[in-house]
Amino acid sequence: MRRDDIRRLEGVADRAWPAAEVWPGPGWEARFADGMHRRINSASVWEAADLPDVVRRIEQWYARRGRPAIFKLTDASAPGLDEHLAGRGYARDALVQIMTASLDGTLPDPTHPVDLAAAASEEWMDAFAGMSGYGPERRRLLGEVLGRIRLPAAYAALREGGAIASVGLAVAEGREAGLFEMATAPGHRRRGMAGSVLAALLEWMARRGAAVAYLQVLEGNEPAERLYRGAGFETRYRYWYRVPPGWLSTMPR
Ligand SMILES: CC(C)(COP(=O)(O)OP(=O)(O)OC[C@H]1O[C@@H](n2cnc3c(N)ncnc32)[C@H](O)[C@@H]1OP(=O)(O)O)[C@@H](O)C(=O)NCCC(=O)NCCS
Repeated sequence: MRRDDIRRLEGVADRAWPAAEVWPGPGWEARFADGMHRRINSASVWEAADLPDVVRRIEQWYARRGRPAIFKLTDASAPGLDEHLAGRGYARDALVQIMTASLDGTLPDPTHPVDLAAAASEEWMDAFAGMSGYGPERRRLLGEVLGRIRLPAAYAALREGGAIASVGLAVAEGREAGLFEMATAPGHRRRGMAGSVLAALLEWMARRGAAVAYLQVLEGNEPAERLYRGAGFETRYRYWYRVPPGWLSTMPR
């Protein structure tokens, strides 16, 4: 994918999953939120005339918020950024694939009925948090993140025996729409539920006029990757984080 396209799609994904505070610089952006996700607690640096100075200023911005700086990198990041951060002791963390699929043409039909709602209910959030093994703090933070989404969204829920067994979220902005929070309760996996949720969300995206669906999947998450490849998604580029030593121990539970 071209450098400009990566930068643009990263912007779309960052707006779909909004931080509480954004510091837009000339050639960089730092995002902050009291939240568990790295995307909304990380800085992207695309261009910097004085890279060490920009990194130092971003570190200070996070320090004023009581947080260590985390950087999100792609192949389109400022040249030398990865090496510079490595030299300052930052460790590489979480390689993530960005996959896209065209929404033109025939889309798969859901094999199970799926409900779509424009906002997240407490039940939906409890179901996702339960499937994901979130403790109370992460569940609270999830509510905060989802409460910030202002773009058109569809919260999908597939029920079995009245209870939500599989979920997913779509957020649309113009010709692109992103998929987030796909999960099936462990006892219900490999029965086509996520496939149905995915099909219902792709159909919602196409109906809204989106042309391209995008999603993020952690490298090595084979079940998810196979699910997405089966629905026509292809890997377009990757991103990863540079985190300061000891950062993972600060993740909320
Ligand atoms: C990924 C996940 C949502 C799949 O949910 P699911 O309801 O089991 O998926 P489905 O039954 O609809 O599977 C559809 C297809 O995905 C692929 N797939 C799903 N689980 C798989 C597994 N464990 N191993 C290999 N392929 C798998 C298969 O191609 C499958 O089709 P098939 O069963 O006909 O072979 C589920 O494993 C999950 O909740 N994982 C934890 C959360 C997560 O990783 N979410 C994705 C974040 S990007």
